[in-house]
Amino acid sequence: MAVNQHDVIIIGAGAAGLMCAISAGQRQRDVLVIDHARKPGNKIMVSGGGRCNFTNYYIEPDRYLSRNPHFCKSALSRYTQWDFIAMVDKHGLPYHEKEEGQLFSDLKSKAILDMMLKETGQAGARVQLKTEVDKIRTLPEGKAPYRYQVSTNQGDYQCQSLVIATGGLSMPTMGATGFGYQVAEQFGLNILPGKAALVPFTLQPEEKELTEPLSGLSTPAVLSCNKKSFTGSLLFTHRGISGPPVLQISSYWNPGDELQIDLLPGTDLKEILKDGRQNRPKTELKTLLSDYFPARLSKALCEQWFKNKTLSELSNADIDHIASCLHQWQPRISGTEGYRTAEVTLGGVDTDELSSKTMEAKKAPGLYFIGEVVDVSGHLGGFNFQWAWSSGWVAGEVV
Ligand code: FDA
Repeated sequence: MAVNQHDVIIIGAGAAGLMCAISAGQRQRDVLVIDHARKPGNKIMVSGGGRCNFTNYYIEPDRYLSRNPHFCKSALSRYTQWDFIAMVDKHGLPYHEKEEGQLFSDLKSKAILDMMLKETGQAGARVQLKTEVDKIRTLPEGKAPYRYQVSTNQGDYQCQSLVIATGGLSMPTMGATGFGYQVAEQFGLNILPGKAALVPFTLQPEEKELTEPLSGLSTPAVLSCNKKSFTGSLLFTHRGISGPPVLQISSYWNPGDELQIDLLPGTDLKEILKDGRQNRPKTELKTLLSDYFPARLSKALCEQWFKNKTLSELSNADIDHIASCLHQWQPRISGTEGYRTAEVTLGGVDTDELSSKTMEAKKAPGLYFIGEVVDVSGHLGGFNFQWAWSSGWVAGEVV
């Protein structure tokens, strides 16, 4: 079978791979993007609840987790959120800021994917789907400038630069595989242990007695773990808890760690209950709590956690107990929902193995790792796509 030769082969037609193809293609490099999936950009399609949260106005390195917190700085400063916004503007795509700088497409996420595919095509790069990679091997010096051979179910391909953009392990149903880690291992690169992140928590059965009937209901909360805190809307689910602050804190939680939840942020419940006992003694606890919580939650709290009494019947000890339960709830966590529903994978290819300027592997010239496969994971809010765009772009500038 004839061997196909390209300047650049990118494995993975997701956010990072497509951006790399655009940047390399614009430099007149002959680029082939291959992916085993039937469609490109599956995660772009499902992102942001169908409205792709494509970046954030406030991209800062401290919104990323990595063993080396400085690694992401170079790429993020060279291809910024403003560069991506300029591309979105160039295509006339409408968008809006939701909260805290999060930019969402007004149109379905497909509009962002279509824009990426259009740019990829205009840059002269080709995307080939349903292509399974069997083997990658380094070519002998005599084959220069070609360095790598990629054997697939569609034939053999040789390239000067090989870019691994196959993402992490989150959501196997979307085509996620550990392929990128296998390639890193093949070339002797260190891999930092992975963990599902931006993921809901599952709770122990006794906690679920409260949360399960409340499934679908949300309430403002502050979640704290390992000296990190996130504020936002906590969502009860039939397995446990979810919602933005839960997903955010999950990145900082490890099995056995204590999670503390303030269900009444910004209030002093002890004072409120003491004042109520004085000034509205006949009011029931359930009624007072419904001033602060949805009625269904205050009813459930007075059935599951506290005895419903009139405020006059509350002792000081009762008041202390109720205030500490609601300001410092420490749910008994059984785990997370894992990669099945996680938005990202923490850990991955050790950044010590890569150049932060080019994403090239120090031990394997011509081999690049970009996007989520690398040990850089962002907070919720458009930070992960920006890492994919930025790391993809800088690699595309040199491949
Ligand atoms: P990505 O996973 O996007 O792409 C990897 C590609 O490689 C896929 O096309 C896959 O098929 C292919 N591949 C894998 N193994 C292969 C193999 N063996 N051979 C060939 N191809 C292979 N982030 C954000 O900033 N804003 C948001 O709104 C969201 N929303 C969101 C929702 C959901 C449900 C999830 C799961 C994730 C998000 N994210 C997000 C996170 C974001 O989607 C993620 O960080 C990026 O898609 C990572 O981009 P990559 O290109 O690195 O991997």
